[in-house]
Amino acid sequence: MSDLVATELDARVLTVTMNRADKKNALTHDMYSAIAGALERAHGDGRIRCVILTGAGDSFTAGNDLSDFAAGMPQGKPPVVRFLEAIVNCDKPVMAAVNGPAVGVGLTMLLHADLIYASEKATFRSPFPHVGVVPEAASSMLLPLAVGNAWANDIFLGGRVLTAAEALSAGLVSRVFPAASFMEECRKIASTVAAQAPNAMLQTKRLIRANRESVLERMRKEGAIFNEQLKSPEFMIAAAAYMQRRLPEFD
Ligand code: COA
Repeated sequence: MSDLVATELDARVLTVTMNRADKKNALTHDMYSAIAGALERAHGDGRIRCVILTGAGDSFTAGNDLSDFAAGMPQGKPPVVRFLEAIVNCDKPVMAAVNGPAVGVGLTMLLHADLIYASEKATFRSPFPHVGVVPEAASSMLLPLAVGNAWANDIFLGGRVLTAAEALSAGLVSRVFPAASFMEECRKIASTVAAQAPNAMLQTKRLIRANRESVLERMRKEGAIFNEQLKSPEFMIAAAAYMQRRLPEFD
């Protein structure tokens, strides 16, 4: 397992922490594999009744590591795909504890969490076309369903950065807690969830997430377009601009 992802099992709650604070927890291939491994473990391990996914330091995650994007995908199933499949298929309740900025896949992964809470310091942004790519993680289908077209287009097309209060009013998160007590509040809720009847919990989650096949199908469709975009001049322009800390110019 990557040391950039920390896991801790305590009282039936598995906490998975994206642990690359100096890079705002930007996700590398190894980190996706490590989180996928933790979710697969949670799925199959009867001792785990709830998973908390959070970030170290002041960020949730700045999304995919942009250098990894530029370097292309490794051979075989891309780790990001393994991660997305693992979060879609995990039968245990997954809580996203959004402690700071959630960018790109940092936002879209929330659509696969069952419980989504934000610190008052959290922000949310998924400006895919602005970085030369398209929405992933079935977010082109799930975000409009979760928050409606107006918010979804503001996020994707407008590149809008949502505050925690805006994410709450949009319905992207269900509660906002003060930063100082954030993880404590999340852990309290996770303990309550972990104490519920496990089979009833599992069946309830399966009923709520009954559209799994269409979600996976949308992910595949998005993935094909995403990969084409990654090879495009548009992405090169956006990635170079990000590295040079300036705005991209698309002619
Ligand atoms: N991939 C690689 N490195 C990243 C990264 C990413 N997605 N996001 C941040 N970093 C790195 C920065 O390059 C910087 O590295 P350096 O210290 O070696 O220069 C470090 O993390 C700190 O980032 P910085 O932007 O200076 O921090 P900030 O506090 O000003 O802003 C964020 C934090 C999360 C708001 C900002 O980094 C951000 O928006 N990143 C997202 C980038 C992105 O477009 N992601 C993909 C979307 S599809």
